[in-house]
Amino acid sequence: MTDHTADVTPSPTSGLFEAERSAEIVAASFVGTADDRLKEILTALVRHAHAFVKDTGLTVEEWAQGIRFLTRTGQKCDATRQEFILLSDVLGVSMLVETLNNPADGQFTESTVEGPFHMVDSPPRALGDSIDEVHGGGEPCLVTGRITDADGIPVAGAAVDVWQADADGYYDVQRPGEVPDRNLRGLFTADADGRFRFRTIVPRYYPIPTDGPVGDLLKATGRHPNRAAHLHIEVSAPGIRTLTTHLFVDESPYLDSDAVFGVKESLIRTFTQVDDPAMAAEHGLPNPFRHVDFPVTVQRRAPGG
Ligand SMILES: [Fe+2]
Repeated sequence: MTDHTADVTPSPTSGLFEAERSAEIVAASFVGTADDRLKEILTALVRHAHAFVKDTGLTVEEWAQGIRFLTRTGQKCDATRQEFILLSDVLGVSMLVETLNNPADGQFTESTVEGPFHMVDSPPRALGDSIDEVHGGGEPCLVTGRITDADGIPVAGAAVDVWQADADGYYDVQRPGEVPDRNLRGLFTADADGRFRFRTIVPRYYPIPTDGPVGDLLKATGRHPNRAAHLHIEVSAPGIRTLTTHLFVDESPYLDSDAVFGVKESLIRTFTQVDDPAMAAEHGLPNPFRHVDFPVTVQRRAPGG
C-alpha cells in the first residue's frame, strides 16, 4: 500500500459542514491557493453552484442526471468533436465571454464565437485562390475586404483565416473521406494595403450536431439546432488584437434565432448578385456570381500590451 501520510498538509480549518453556510465553508478551504485569480474563480464558482442548488431545490436524482449529462458531454469529445464548446455555445456562455472580452466600442468590427469547427489548421493559400476544392457544390462567390485600424491605416500582411460549411451544411471534419481535407478553409495574407480576396461558395445555414447530449438538451427545450449561414473569419497580426468573427448572409433563415446566439446586426451582409463577364473572368469565376465586401477594423494593442 502507498503511504500517503508523508505529503499530507493539514487543511485549513473551515468548520463542520452546514447547509446554511455551505459556500462560505468550502470557500475557506481555498485559503492556501497560491494563485489569487484561481482562488477568486473557484470561490465564485462555489458560491454560484451552491446558490443554484439552493434556488432550484435540486434533488439527488436531478444532481445525478446533471453528472451523467456532463459525463456524456466529455465522452462525446474527440479530435474532431468538441461537445463542451457546443454546450457553452448553446447556453450563450461563449458569446458572453467573447463579447465582454472584445468590446467593439462602436469603432471596431464586432466579434462573435469561434465555434467548435476550427479544429484543424487552415491551409495557406494565395490571394484570389478558391477555398472550394469540390467545385460546383454551391453558388460561386467572391469575398473581398480590407483590414485597417480605427484610423484607417491598413494592416499590411495580416493573417486572414477563413472556414465555412459546404453547400449541404457540413464542415470538412464532419465528412472525412467524402471531401478533400481542409476543404473550405484557407489562410490568406493581406497585401501591403491590407486587402484580401478569395473565391468560395455562398455558405449555407446548418444544424449544429444533434447526436450528442447537447442535441438532447435542444430537443428537451424545444429549440431548433440551426445556425444562420455564415463564413468564419479570424484576423491576426503582430501588434493588433486578434479578431474572431463571422460574416452572415442577409438572406439566411435563423438570423434572429441562431442556435448559439452568434448573430450581431453589424455582421450581416448582402451577398450581391453580380452579372459582369469581365469581372468574372478577372477573378476566375463563372458568370453570374455573388460578391461580398467585408471591411474589417481591428484594434491596435497598446505598446507592451
Ligand atoms: Fe460555423
